[in-house]
Amino acid sequence: MASENAIPRPVGAVLHSALLYDAIVWFALRGRERQLRQRLLALSGVRPGESLLDVGCGTGTLAILAKETVGRSGTVCAVDASAEMLARARSKAVRAGVEIRFENAAAQSLPFSDSSFDLALGTMMLHHLGRAARRELAAELRRVVRPGGRVLLVDFAGREARRRGFARHFRHRHGHLDVADIVALLAGAGFQSVESGAVGVGDLHFALAASPRQP
Ligand SMILES: C[S@@+](CC[C@H](N)C(=O)[O-])C[C@H]1O[C@@H](n2cnc3c(N)ncnc32)[C@H](O)[C@@H]1O
Repeated sequence: MASENAIPRPVGAVLHSALLYDAIVWFALRGRERQLRQRLLALSGVRPGESLLDVGCGTGTLAILAKETVGRSGTVCAVDASAEMLARARSKAVRAGVEIRFENAAAQSLPFSDSSFDLALGTMMLHHLGRAARRELAAELRRVVRPGGRVLLVDFAGREARRRGFARHFRHRHGHLDVADIVALLAGAGFQSVESGAVGVGDLHFALAASPRQP
């Protein structure tokens, strides 16, 4: 298991205010976070029994719902570079009565062996990474997702994201992100594009891709 000191270089905007993060999400979505998370899981096509990875999991809300979906025969691992976000995620998982393996690690250096997962998710975390770190993450996802497995990346990546202003500063510290950039990022790592588009909530966009069955 990775220890907090084992993170070589958490290149990215790592969050530390877990309670504040959940409060901001609650206000931004006006209490409809569960609906958004369920929509994201539906887009991923997650099924009972699957092994799932959530990268940049934050306070674990998506990972907990994912575990409820994959059920007892499935597994969920969740990674974040922030010990504080993970501490809150762990206590939320205990309260929800679900077993999730949480790892304090950098997305660019995932502590899992090759082909460990059927499905990997990365939601609202790409904009926390610089361009090189995004490419490292994509290469890591390609390595840990099994042939035939899927990856779903979701971020603020539409027209709204191009506007200037306060919110844009937080969403795009590392430069504008377009859904086409996310598709290209996954293609560059060797994934085959399945589908991309608007999530239907705010400016969120998704890219769903598959790892080729033949290496
Ligand atoms: C905006 S939050 C999104 C959290 C969660 N995925 C969600 O949908 O609510 C971005 C998360 O990415 C994490 N993060 C930033 N850089 C990271 C890195 N290099 N490796 C792993 N996690 C990172 C932050 O600590 C934060 O928890």
